[in-house]
Amino acid sequence: MRSDLMLAVHNLEVVYEGVLRSLRGASLAVAPDRIVAVLGANGAGKTTLLRAMTGLLDVHRGKITRGQVTLDGTPLDTRRAASVVRAGVSQVMEGRRVFVEFTVEENLRIGGHTGSTADVTANLERIFAMFPVLADRRGARAGYLSGGEQQMLAIGRALMAQPRFLLLDEPSLGLAPKLVEQIRDLIVDINAAGTGVLLIEQNAAMALSIAHHGYVMENGITVMDAPADTLRADEDIQEFYLGLGQTASLRDVKHYKRRKRWLS
Ligand SMILES: Nc1ncnc2c1ncn2[C@@H]1O[C@H](COP(=O)(O)OP(=O)(O)OP(=O)(O)O)[C@@H](O)[C@H]1O
Ligand SMILES: [Mg+2]
Repeated sequence: MRSDLMLAVHNLEVVYEGVLRSLRGASLAVAPDRIVAVLGANGAGKTTLLRAMTGLLDVHRGKITRGQVTLDGTPLDTRRAASVVRAGVSQVMEGRRVFVEFTVEENLRIGGHTGSTADVTANLERIFAMFPVLADRRGARAGYLSGGEQQMLAIGRALMAQPRFLLLDEPSLGLAPKLVEQIRDLIVDINAAGTGVLLIEQNAAMALSIAHHGYVMENGITVMDAPADTLRADEDIQEFYLGLGQTASLRDVKHYKRRKRWLS
């Protein structure tokens, strides 16, 4: 893996409103040919990590207090959101944020606004070829699309900028299993076409089924970092993240097991 061609986070700390420490040492790396998963419970800091990577902390009164985000070895966290997109990093925010009053096509055009008119038209056709369901409904108001179609639209909009890296915040949330499968296949296709993917998911089974590598976040810290196969086979991951147990956190699981071993 060439370390100079990569999206990376180095020991990042983020504070909200000057006091709330939300990230306390998060690190990761995504190569252009990889799907990298970030797993973690509610409040672990996954969305914050994404905001820090895409210049969106300002909007939420958050600030990086230590560490760095880099793209190909040069700082990314000093750039504003639009400049991050121009640099080749696009994101799909949590909760399928589409412009409900606009049509499908208008939503996509908004995603391509950084390119020239010719680029936008070519990209639009590329996205419609990729998402036939959006092509069929290009004139429909986005608010009338189903949840799954809105998620496709949100992903399509991010792809309009032809990103080198695509960051997805819980794309499967609230979708029926069949749609989760469609989104999963789509992510695989996007990656196969040469886009590095950072996939934030609480659906660990889905994420680890397609990821090459994975990170586990707890309390603002990346506490585990391993190939996806290793994470899938890890008993503690199975117990906590693959829904086979009821324990409060990965650390609790480990602690509990250590105690059990010690007592026996
Ligand atoms: N704008 C904000 N102002 C203050 N605190 C915030 C803000 N956004 C998030 N936080 C806090 O930062 C921590 C991490 O939140 P974040 O949304 O990054 O977690 P998450 O892992 O994405 O959770 P979820 O799985 O629920 O989406 C939480 O304690 C949250 O309450
Ligand atoms: Mg979140």
